[in-house]
Amino acid sequence: MITTIRACVADEFQQVNELIIEQLRSDVAMVENVGHYIVDAGGKRLRPLLVLLAAGALDDISPDDIKFAAVVEFIHTATLLHDDVVDLSTLRRGRATANAEFGNAPSVLVGDFIYTRAFQLMVSLGNLPLLQHMADTTNTIAAGEVLQLMRAGDPSVTESQYVDVIERKTAALFAAACRGSAILRGLDHGVEEQMGNFGRHLGIAFQMVDDVLDYTGDPEITGKQVGDDLNEGKPTLPLIYTMAAGTADDAAIVRDALAQKDSSNLAGVIAAVRRSGGIEYTREQAVAHQHSALAALSDLAPSPALTAMHALADMAINRER
Ligand code: IPE
Ligand code: IPE
Ligand code: MG
Ligand code: MG
Repeated sequence: MITTIRACVADEFQQVNELIIEQLRSDVAMVENVGHYIVDAGGKRLRPLLVLLAAGALDDISPDDIKFAAVVEFIHTATLLHDDVVDLSTLRRGRATANAEFGNAPSVLVGDFIYTRAFQLMVSLGNLPLLQHMADTTNTIAAGEVLQLMRAGDPSVTESQYVDVIERKTAALFAAACRGSAILRGLDHGVEEQMGNFGRHLGIAFQMVDDVLDYTGDPEITGKQVGDDLNEGKPTLPLIYTMAAGTADDAAIVRDALAQKDSSNLAGVIAAVRRSGGIEYTREQAVAHQHSALAALSDLAPSPALTAMHALADMAINRER
């Protein structure tokens, strides 16, 4: 499915990938080693794809869009390098995480290199409103990760507090990927809002599905380990729902594991979540956000890029990786 979505921007997508490789260049060997290690492992490249599709739905895709798409993927890549250190994750994109392979210090520092390289690239676009928006977005992501850290191991976190965290740590970048195309073109604030709302709801849905896959995914397909979130005591929606709506016993199984950040009873927690309908509920919420995302696009004129945006929203829900 993702190949079909990419097809309508295939040349531009290729250019983005080339620019990403080009911009990883450094005279410091460790930067290139760690940078290539994570970038060459691939990833879905959903965010740069969103940049290109949003641009294509509004206008013709320009060289500035290619640059902006690389910027967005770089910001994403930097957050992954940092996130895996914080989450003590050992598997990403089907291989050992950079922190497992090279250590925490190289991951954090090369993450900084990639963040700042993104800003160098962005400055070269010479668009102050875009720079402002991306500075705000990156700051929001960082605050989201800190907020999540503060809430680790806290079983009293509510659904709306959970949504607040994922809006910041994940949906903000999805929103910016889409909104950026409108900002680059100096379009009306209303168009900016529509694009931003599409990306925001899509990002929320995407993270909800990620949080389901953390319990139900196949590591061979996701390229990530199962149970990472429990290990970190992340109160994600499948758990929040189980604690609120499950039987007293199931709620207690989840509450204890979460409070102790203990994934040794992962199978028991997964069984409790499944019995309580926590997986189903989280998926339903994701679908609701997918619908809101699509509603935000209803004013746009039909185009192949718009059709691909719809397909991408579908993929965000039905994905296995
Ligand atoms: C992982 O994002 C981080 C989340 C926001 C869940 P992706 O699932 O897009 O990661 P890659 O880039 O495809 O590896
Ligand atoms: C996404 O959250 C982190 C960021 C967007 C910074 P997760 O911690 O759930 O992402 P994965 O599961 O490690 O990819
Ligand atoms: Mg993580
Ligand atoms: Mg996750």
